[in-house]
Amino acid sequence: MSSIQQLGYLGFEVRDLAAWESLATDVLGVGISARHSDGSFSTRHDSYAHRLHVLLGEADDLGFVGLQLASRDEVDGLARKLADNGVAIHASTPHERALRAVDHMVHFVDPAGNRLELYCGPQMAETPFVSPLVKAGFAAEDQGLGHCVVRATDLAISEAFYIGLLGCKLSDRITTEVYGFQVAITFMHINPRHHSLALGHNIPKRIHHFMLQAKTLDDVGSAFDRCFDNKVRVAQTIGRHPNDHMVSFYAFTPSGFEFEYGYGAREVDDATWQAGHYNFISEWGHRPPATLRQKF
Ligand SMILES: [Fe+2]
Repeated sequence: MSSIQQLGYLGFEVRDLAAWESLATDVLGVGISARHSDGSFSTRHDSYAHRLHVLLGEADDLGFVGLQLASRDEVDGLARKLADNGVAIHASTPHERALRAVDHMVHFVDPAGNRLELYCGPQMAETPFVSPLVKAGFAAEDQGLGHCVVRATDLAISEAFYIGLLGCKLSDRITTEVYGFQVAITFMHINPRHHSLALGHNIPKRIHHFMLQAKTLDDVGSAFDRCFDNKVRVAQTIGRHPNDHMVSFYAFTPSGFEFEYGYGAREVDDATWQAGHYNFISEWGHRPPATLRQKF
């Protein structure tokens, strides 16, 4: 098993902080956990102090992916392994560690240029997480914040990097065509969550979506309602995926990439897991609304 324990945090570079804050507090139902001098902010949705870092920037895209390890020795050991395989490893600055509230961090880029960070010693929140909107809370904690799908320009090369070097485990693959788009995604796990990271072949941005997992279907349905109440554009209606069995919907963030809001994913037991290959992406649902479908 990988020495990486969980997907611990994500950083987004966004242009419209106000719209993102509304998304976070009015739709996602996460809490603002820190505010920074330029208006950037961080959010939480479990016992960890910070999970999403929403930072002012021009990219409107993924900034960084934080992968948690147990100790400084574990971080440095994996960094040495990467360096031995030709990956340029960079030390973090005190400012970078302070923003993320972690003890130790190094960073590098994956074969597609996505910035990955290995860290240890995250700050934990002083109070239990309670959301006025998400009654039952989120499935997170030791399974990490949720999952994200990041860009791969060559799936075989990125798979070799994530599985061969970082120690992620293959969950399964989906290759199909959806409304005229060729879709090829490799799903990987690092703990019982079906996938913490997935690689999307030639997706337009560094990230296709990040996923937060509610503990009840009611909380997913209520979040779906809040998209309409807050004029957040739905990208895919409620549906169920064949691989992780998640019931979820997708909607657009103010930065143009999507979030997925789900419930009921199955978990992976490495003792019995067999990596599958699917030629469809949804058992049912996940339809683009009519206004979106006209573009295809
Ligand atoms: Fe997803």
